[in-house]
Amino acid sequence: MGICLSARIKAESPFNTGGSYFQPLSWNLRLKVALGAAKGVAFLHGAETKVIYRDFKTSNILLDINYNAKLSDFGLAKDGPTGDQSHVSTRVMGTYGYAAPEYLATGHLTAKSDVYSFGVVLLEMLSGRRAVDKNRPSGEHNLVEWAKPYLASKRKIFRIIDNRLEGQYTLEGAYKGATLALRCLSTEGKFRPTMAEVVTVLEQLQDSSETGNIRCNTHNRPKIRRHSADDARSRSVTAYPRPSASPLYA
Ligand SMILES: Nc1ncnc2c1ncn2[C@@H]1O[C@H](COP(=O)(O)OP(=O)(O)OP(=O)(O)O)[C@@H](O)[C@H]1O
Ligand SMILES: [Mg+2]
Repeated sequence: MGICLSARIKAESPFNTGGSYFQPLSWNLRLKVALGAAKGVAFLHGAETKVIYRDFKTSNILLDINYNAKLSDFGLAKDGPTGDQSHVSTRVMGTYGYAAPEYLATGHLTAKSDVYSFGVVLLEMLSGRRAVDKNRPSGEHNLVEWAKPYLASKRKIFRIIDNRLEGQYTLEGAYKGATLALRCLSTEGKFRPTMAEVVTVLEQLQDSSETGNIRCNTHNRPKIRRHSADDARSRSVTAYPRPSASPLYA
């Protein structure tokens, strides 16, 4: 998988346009990329393949000229459990900020570990923030920890949705995306959806987004005071450390 006439979604396009040539991806394109990547992971998890990808993150999603997502870097991919096994035991590898908590704690790997990582990426797409960003104010370094309290509330999700998407999405759409991310990020794997379910929800979201008529903008969204100066920050030119795949615990 991987025809590589690619745009990089991680460092340039949607998330960090400060001083760069790239424009942030629109809401619809982000949905397209999320859906394409979800289909890729769902395929890997499918009955025929049963592979756990293990390093799902934005920098491993390559985009072709039409924004079709291709998963790259299968170096850590692992055969999933077979027979009665619930998991495979492995040395903990992956990328800080994306790995599921139970995998970090025990080394037990399941398809639901990938679902957690997908939730992190979905959150990056919704928020325009990186999974780990030491340049943010303290308390906001870890995207999941920062965003989780806002994800479940229709009134609060605006605090985490990328400002640059204003006017492009509906309240329902944002809430549905946020709820999906929250489910993927459940602490316990059994409460996370399967990747097949993720694909279904994203397809519905894409359909409703294409037909949706009430878009959120500064006039019709609830007035919520922002707690940080994240907009100003996201527009400034910032050198981000690049997360890399490595043994998380040597
Ligand atoms: N074929 C490609 N075309 C364009 N950009 C690419 C291609 N392959 C990788 N990249 C980009 O180059 C950068 C480095 O990729 P690389 O895979 O080496 O590191 P990474 O994805 O950050 O970590 P990992 O080693 O876990 O995959 C990333 O931003 C990635 O998106
Ligand atoms: Mg890579």
